[in-house]
Order: sequence, then structure tokens, then C-alpha cells
Amino acid sequence: MNRDPVTRELFNDVMVPNYAPGAMIPVRGEGSRLWDQNDREYVDFAGGIAVNSLGHAHPGLIGALHEQAEKLWHVSNVLTNEPALRLARSLKELTFAERVFFANSGAEANEAAFKLARRHSWLKHGPEKHEIIAFTNSFHGRTLFTVSVGGQPKYLEGFEPAPGGIHHATYNDLDSVRALISKEKTCAVVVEPIQGEGGVLPADPEFLKGLRSLCNDHDALLVFDEVQSGAGRTGYLYAYQHYGVTPDILTSAKGLGGGFPVAAMLTTDAVAQSFGVGTHGSTYGGNPLACAVAQKVIDTISQPDILKGIRARSDKLRKGMMAIGEKHRIFTHVRGEGLLLGCVLTEEWKGRAKDFVAAAQEEGLLVLVAGGDVVRLAPSLIIPEHDIEEGLERFEKAVATLTK
Ligand SMILES: Cc1ncc(COP(=O)(O)O)c(C=O)c1O
Repeated sequence: MNRDPVTRELFNDVMVPNYAPGAMIPVRGEGSRLWDQNDREYVDFAGGIAVNSLGHAHPGLIGALHEQAEKLWHVSNVLTNEPALRLARSLKELTFAERVFFANSGAEANEAAFKLARRHSWLKHGPEKHEIIAFTNSFHGRTLFTVSVGGQPKYLEGFEPAPGGIHHATYNDLDSVRALISKEKTCAVVVEPIQGEGGVLPADPEFLKGLRSLCNDHDALLVFDEVQSGAGRTGYLYAYQHYGVTPDILTSAKGLGGGFPVAAMLTTDAVAQSFGVGTHGSTYGGNPLACAVAQKVIDTISQPDILKGIRARSDKLRKGMMAIGEKHRIFTHVRGEGLLLGCVLTEEWKGRAKDFVAAAQEEGLLVLVAGGDVVRLAPSLIIPEHDIEEGLERFEKAVATLTK
């Protein structure tokens, strides 16, 4: 077996080429800092795309994982397990949920949500009422169903035929939903309270309220995809709590495990009953290791002082980025909620978000794109103030290399 050191070049030889990872390979992390193979240090404003909610190597998460690893790793769903039951009970206490289904990724939680919505409608109204209304520029995952519900045709290219009965309306435009919704055919409306991949675009509160009443009027379920906006990201445990609009189904993943793969679909008792025994499942869903880690994440981020701290950090980061944006005339504005922020590039810089990511990496800072025109930030929810300051300094240096 070849034991030569691994390099970035090896990626091109051994991996399926569906990703284009950056030049460095991180090997170690602590808090909001990462180190690469050459021991070069980076400030992390990317957070593994809104996943490392408590940063890297959080002692509480390490402790929870170790403790569970010594007890029980896996039993499948032929048996239940204590960490899964505890986590479901906590999510029930902290949200609208009366029932929880566990999965391993955002796409899987959404797949479960869409299947549940279809089946609920099928049982209640028959097969005609199966249509799903989603939104252009949204993102719900990469399985064939979720990528079809997501409103970005480029991700479906070459994978058709797609599942049918899916329509796309325009985000933040209730009239476009009114034009598509029908009592006879629509089973669900699926929406991200903040479009993440689509450019960190928050929903207008009136839009979400309007969707709630349209769903009520047309006997359709309202599904919130909170894979990116959930688990404390907005300064609320879930963004629906910030908006004051309660869905019938909500999906959570990414930050829920703080870096350990875990996802959840939350719903009401009445809707949950449409998934009887044997209708849906997942070998790993509710895995004890994943649930023990997620429990620690939820216990930590649901503390009022942590949630308040997210809003304070958000203010600092938003103001810092906007100041750099104005000084160098690169951003029109910074949008988003909490620690999910999108810095929108000016006309002159449109399409060049990737250049900012590369320049920032050169200066020892990790940031993300959201489409071509938005630099996205999704750092740890407990990022220390001095890391925010240091990251902002590095970002300004990176901007200077591009604008000089
Ligand atoms: C809103 C939203 N839904 C679903 C997904 C898919 O999650 P996963 O990549 O864990 O399948 C993502 C991932 O970016 C997302 O942002």
C-alpha cells in the first residue's frame, strides 16, 4: 500500500472530479483557526459552509463524542437508542416540533420532508394533490428529488428525467405563488427562510406570512428548509422563530452536528402519522454518535447568552465588512441574518466572488461564495472577537491585492 505523503495533486488522481478544492489541505483546527500541512494558519470565516457551529475541536463536542464512542456506536433502527431519543425530546421542547425523523445530511432530511408532504396529501386527498411549489434560485440538496425541487436548472443538467409535479415561483413574490397554487393539486410549498446558496437572500417577513396563509387556504403543507439557516445561525435556534411564522415541516442539518454528519426533519404529530412503519427509513439516521454530538451542540447554542452573542458578533462582522466594502467600493451592501452574511459585489466586481475567496486564502482567511456575485461568511457561532478583527484585517489586505 502506498504510504507517500498525500498532496493536493493526489485529489486529481484519485477523486471523482465533481469538486475543485482549494490549494491547501487543512490538517488541524481549533476554535476559528485552521492549520494546513505546512503549519500555515488561517482564520475561518467559512465554518465548513455553516457547519462548524462551535468552531473546530470544541472541547464539549470532543467530550460528547468520546463518551458516546466508548458506549455504543450503532444499532440501526431495528432498535432505538438513548442519544436519539434525548435529542428528539430536546428538539421538541425547543421548537414547534411534536415529532422528529433523523437523517444524515440536508438532502436526506429534505427528501424525507418532500416524501412526507406527498404521502400526507395522498392519504388525505388522493393522488391528484401532489404538486410541490418551490422557488427559483433555491437549493435543497443533490439527490434527484431535492435537486429538482431546488430551482437551479444547471444542477439538473444531464440528470433528467426529473421527478414531476414540481413548479417554481419567484422568491419574495407572493403573486407568483398565487398564480401556481391550487386546492386540487398543491400538496406543499417549500422555501428557505434565507436562500443560502442562492446568494444569502433573506425572505421578507410578509412573504413568509403570506405563504403560511396561502398554504392554510389551499390545504397545503408549508416546508421550511433550515439546513443552512437553522441551528442558531441567525441568532435564533431556527429562523422561523425570528420570522414568527411556523411551518408544518422543518429540515435541519449542517450546524446541527457542528461537523458530525446528522440531520433532522421536524414536524407536527398530525403530519408525522402519514409516515407509518416501513414507509421511509435510513440505516444511519439517529446514529448514537451523531445524536450525542448534536445534543451537545443544541444544549450549547440554545443558551440565551450564546444566541445573544451571535447577534453581537454579527453586528461587528457586518459593520467591518461594510466598512471595507465602502472604502474599496466593492460591496453594495451586506445582507443576511446573524452569522450568515452575504456581501453583495458592486457592478464592477460582479461575477468575481471567487477571486475574493482565492485572495483571502492567500492572506490566511477562509471565506465562501454564494453564486458569482456574493462573498458569503458563515463562521463559528462563538467566534472570538479578536478572530473577527484579525479576519477583517486579512480580508482588507486581500481586497487591496485585487484593487491595487
Ligand atoms: C438550504 C440547503 N438545503 C439543503 C442542502 C443540502 O445539504 P447536504 O449538502 O447536507 O445534503 C444545503 C446545502 O448547502 C442547503 O444550503
